[in-house]
Amino acid sequence: MNKGKLAVVVLAAGKGKRMSSDLPKVLHRICGRTLIGYVLDAVAPLGAGGVVLVVGHGSDAVRREVGEGVRYAEQAEQKGTGHAVMIALEELGPEYEEVVVLPGDSPLVTPETLASLIESRRAAGAAASLLCAELAHPAGYGRVLRGADGMVRRIVEEADAGEAERAVNEINVSTYAFERSALARELEALTTDNAQGEYYLTGVVESLVARGLGVAAVSAAPEEVLGVNDREQLAGVEAVMRSRINRGHMLAGVTITDPANTYVDHGVEVGRDTIIMPVVFITGASRVGRGCRIGPCTSINGSSVGDRSEIEFSWLDGCEVAEDVRVGPYSRLRPGCRIGPSACVGSFVEMKNTLVGRGSKVPHLSYMGDAEIGEEVNVGAGSITCNYDGESKHRTVIGDGAFLGSDTMLIAPVSVGEGAVTGAGSSIYEDVPDGSLGIERSEQKNVSGWKAKKAEGKGKRARGQ
Ligand code: UD1
Ligand code: CA
Repeated sequence: MNKGKLAVVVLAAGKGKRMSSDLPKVLHRICGRTLIGYVLDAVAPLGAGGVVLVVGHGSDAVRREVGEGVRYAEQAEQKGTGHAVMIALEELGPEYEEVVVLPGDSPLVTPETLASLIESRRAAGAAASLLCAELAHPAGYGRVLRGADGMVRRIVEEADAGEAERAVNEINVSTYAFERSALARELEALTTDNAQGEYYLTGVVESLVARGLGVAAVSAAPEEVLGVNDREQLAGVEAVMRSRINRGHMLAGVTITDPANTYVDHGVEVGRDTIIMPVVFITGASRVGRGCRIGPCTSINGSSVGDRSEIEFSWLDGCEVAEDVRVGPYSRLRPGCRIGPSACVGSFVEMKNTLVGRGSKVPHLSYMGDAEIGEEVNVGAGSITCNYDGESKHRTVIGDGAFLGSDTMLIAPVSVGEGAVTGAGSSIYEDVPDGSLGIERSEQKNVSGWKAKKAEGKGKRARGQ
């Protein structure tokens, strides 16, 4: 059958009651991506002619997040999975002869498994093929009941199952390939005569079997079929996804010293021979180059880090760090920072919206906000920009080759020229021209014999003199 005749229906209208959430279930995220995003990623390689997303609960939010790539079918009232598929079929023209149905809340399914499901139905000439799996803890899932011949007979929901049926470990994944006409016909015949008073899609399986039409089954690995109904399952599914992502990086040449404590979002790029130490978070649209050393205990969000840079015990958000840079330990780079090649941002440094030029150093205990630091600049320990006057933020510009003495207060707006120097402890509130020394200090007085005089005073008081 050609791919153009294949349609995919993704079910995502349910309330997700057990999540106890204001957010529609399929918009919850694991490793930075929505559940529905992963499902649509797995569907994409099938090359289906049409993908219909059934939405209902929180439909506006789901449409906003997913966007234009799919068609939508609105299920105003959630009357069950069978009802959801009925509504989806109305959205599909008669050209679609084969329909894959899968839930929007099972993000671990792979394109390979979906392809083998489709293939198994075609090969068996069956009206349907369903995905199943053996779980050690099948509670909550529908169970697949087979006849003495090993063929699928029907699916029983947990709520409708008797004790013997609940003891079955083979579960229904809620992922199927159907011959469209057979599916449409059996959906018409569904009733709500069950514990939940819903139109169960699973009922279609039983009626196809009753008609003598075969239902094939494909078994999937347990870790591919986990669905999310509550927050505990959300965490379980995230753990599987996280280890998949980490494994992918390790196979591509990244050293991860403690994968169980390394949190890398979906879509993050990491170059080969980079070493990621424990308790590292690399999230959002982040990119880390080759040969870097990241961590331990570091968070990099929405940032890029160039080749061979080292980020230790630090926090980066919305920054661009070039190659051969050293950051940390214990520094915080807030959005809008661009750190040039071979620069150093040392320990206990905070920066915001600041450019640091090639080879410049801000090694100790500084705050640089709204600043432009040229190349080969040295910022002495404890220097800060006073960029905020209580109403507005002001800029500080430091020219190439400048040298700030320790504890320089840069009262912005202000500039320090190329090759200029500031005296340690100066509050610089006027521009320092190129090549000049800016020094602002009151004169030092030394009182000679101070210690002896003090001791004498104390002695007199003690004697009551
Ligand atoms: C369903 C299956 C069960 C299977 C399990 C796998 C049925 C009757 N049961 O149960 O056999 O083991 O999935 O995870 O099919 N949805 C709608 N509209 C509705 C109801 C649900 O779009 O009216 C969507 C939900 O958003 C969800 C999916 O269908 O994405 C599954 O619904 P859910 O309520 O989670 O079904 P389960 O009880 O898990
Ligand atoms: Ca479910």
